[in-house]
Amino acid sequence: MLKGKKILIAVTGSIAAYKIPNLVRLLVKDGADVKVIMTEAAKNFVSPLTLSTLTKQDVLSDLTNGDTWANHVMLGRWADVMLIAPLSCNTLAKMAAGFCDNLLLAVYLSATCPVIVAPAMDEDMWHHFTTKANIEKLALNGIQIIPVESGELASGLIGEGRMAEIEVIAKWLQHFFIEDSQFEGKKILITAGPTYEALDPVRFIGNHSSGKMGLAIAYNFLKRGAVVTMVMGPTSLKVPASIKIINVTSADEMYNACVTAFPEMDIAVMSAAVADYTPVTVAGEKIKKQENSFSIELKRTKDILKQLGSIKKKGQFLVGFALETNNEKQYALKKLSEKNADLIVLNSLNDAGAGFGHDTNKITIFDNNQQEYHFEVKSKEAVAADIVDIIFQSLS
Ligand code: CTP
Repeated sequence: MLKGKKILIAVTGSIAAYKIPNLVRLLVKDGADVKVIMTEAAKNFVSPLTLSTLTKQDVLSDLTNGDTWANHVMLGRWADVMLIAPLSCNTLAKMAAGFCDNLLLAVYLSATCPVIVAPAMDEDMWHHFTTKANIEKLALNGIQIIPVESGELASGLIGEGRMAEIEVIAKWLQHFFIEDSQFEGKKILITAGPTYEALDPVRFIGNHSSGKMGLAIAYNFLKRGAVVTMVMGPTSLKVPASIKIINVTSADEMYNACVTAFPEMDIAVMSAAVADYTPVTVAGEKIKKQENSFSIELKRTKDILKQLGSIKKKGQFLVGFALETNNEKQYALKKLSEKNADLIVLNSLNDAGAGFGHDTNKITIFDNNQQEYHFEVKSKEAVAADIVDIIFQSLS
């Protein structure tokens, strides 16, 4: 599966480094061409001799090799992917801050290939706010993070922070190469987040959508080679520079942004929670409270998904969401046909762990060939991968 793929493994100083020779063996057995670099600290946990024997290559760790300069630029250009495993807390912090005080960091900073990291540290370090911020910074800049696992840690404590098992890392790499170019150059439009409908200069009608599901879908498309544009309602989410972002506030602004962008797109995924109603008038001044009850007259907003369905051209693919509390399948299928979508992703609020605010979701996908795809409760990242897999399968 990995035949001819060039993998650069960068090892840092963590006890999990002892597993890397086995990972190298797995990858080499699978046909990969593997080179290893390591930090000085990593040598305390695994020997360069073991790794050079397994890879049949020199293992570099210094910026200079005797009197010769180690060409870090060429290493990062040689590789199809750079895997930093295990990634220690220290190297993570240096990567996030842009330090360049060893060969590994110099290669990382000059690498032109995608970078994947497999962190490994003690639970308290893993949960530290600086570690969280550093991981978020890397993820925001397109670095793939292989999730840590829970279990016995080097400290003897049980908790989160163990490096993913080597079989999981090997599978991740296989997926990386399969998915790498599935959507190469395809243009994807994704809506996400809530919309806010102004009542007066200080108040609005909104909803609890976080935008996380839409952003996870965007990340997944990006990973598979797509060019992603997001039309994002008001959220606190940070979006990487590799995603083009159009910020909007109201349903009307989201409608205009989508209708303008859609003709250029290959695929549109409408995951935003768009307000169905907006106030008929927006007060110019703050509305003062009144003695008795107070009514607001609302009018319908424009249905963005329906409009895109009506202007959809041959070759364009449209995905809608349905959030339901009852008669879920019936309503989802109604939306599929009435809005001329190609897929509807159903979230039922009756399912534990589904819907707004959670980091998990549970979905069922319906298509126009009467196919139903049921999935278990998963992280929003894993749900995004399922959605993008079904889109890919439908298009092929
Ligand atoms: N949607 C949209 N424009 C709107 C309302 C919804 O594009 N004004 C999209 C959503 O982004 C989602 C799909 O339509 O992809 C279904 O949204 P949902 O709120 O579940 O359904 P509605 O069509 O609004 O119908 P209802 O609220 O009656 O269930």
